Amino acid sequence: MDIADKLIREHRLTKEEYAELIRAYEDENLAKRLADEAVRLRREIYGDAVYVRGLIEFTNICKNDCLYCGIRKSNPNAERYRLTKEEILDCCVQGYHLGYRTFVLQGGEDGYYTDERLADIVSAIKSKYPDCAVTLSVGERSFESYRLLKSAGADRYLLRHETANVQHYQRLHPPELTLENRMRCLRDLKQLGYQVGAGFMVGSPYQTAECLADDLLLLQEFQPEMAGIGPFIPHHDTEFANEPAGSVELTLFLLSIIRIMLPHVLLPATTALGTLNPVGRERGMLCGANVVMPNLSPVENRKKYELYDNKICTGEEAAECRGCLANRMKSVGFRLVTDRGDYCP
Ligand code: 5AD
Ligand code: FES
Repeated sequence: MDIADKLIREHRLTKEEYAELIRAYEDENLAKRLADEAVRLRREIYGDAVYVRGLIEFTNICKNDCLYCGIRKSNPNAERYRLTKEEILDCCVQGYHLGYRTFVLQGGEDGYYTDERLADIVSAIKSKYPDCAVTLSVGERSFESYRLLKSAGADRYLLRHETANVQHYQRLHPPELTLENRMRCLRDLKQLGYQVGAGFMVGSPYQTAECLADDLLLLQEFQPEMAGIGPFIPHHDTEFANEPAGSVELTLFLLSIIRIMLPHVLLPATTALGTLNPVGRERGMLCGANVVMPNLSPVENRKKYELYDNKICTGEEAAECRGCLANRMKSVGFRLVTDRGDYCP
């Protein structure tokens, strides 16, 4: 297909070309060509290294009500928890010993974590582990808040845009959440000098090939340092409980496209991908991914951070997860490394 050639040559396409490429995702030869080019590029830039991020899910309390998410505020069945500063630091102690040099603090939009409290946690981690990166993933906040957290030492920020199409965004979120504010946040974060991660779910309800083409165009224009994409998976306590999950093959296809479009991007093979397919994360590596984000949260909390059903790795100790992933990456010719794994411009 000449569109694939064009993408490989120019690293960019128009919306119509992206949509056409996406509609052809079941063409196995095409998928293989894109995957091979994606892996060639990631090897050229990052070699065989796979970066690990220790994910600390520190609160599942959330003031928002995203229709797809298991920890939305209107789910009365979610058992809510918050980790204390000490519990978070304990996760880091364990993680550091296991070779993690990035800690990702992810949580719902929980008002308890004011700028002051969160900045205090970030600076405690950074002063104890100056050789580690801290990534925040705590949703939409003000410019001033992002600025304070940055000066407390946060290095990176993950905030998926979820969908780049306004109508689609509105069908997945309550009216008080807007794509406009989401994008304001992403621009603020970039302006403040964070390494920024955008991204989206694949196969969310009402998504079309045009929506996905908009998502790719958004990444092409915004040029994030990180891109988080994973399949949508229904959660039984949401109104999308009976919707089908996203396609593993389409997710892999999109990973390859994103690697070719943004050769230097930090691109995780997500837990959602590993949940839908037992070797989903390994296959992600073979389509251009170069990051994995195993869970460092205390085992007793893990099941409660349930964004979607059947999430994997909720019973494993941190050490088991790290070992398991090291073997899995090795099985496909890659190597987990002890490194901050910064964006390589
Ligand atoms: N399926 C897959 N991914 C989900 N997320 C939230 N709910 C689901 C779900 N049901 C993703 C969102 C969010 C990230 C933390 O998890 O994209 O940004
Ligand atoms: Fe967690 Fe395999 S990655 S147990």
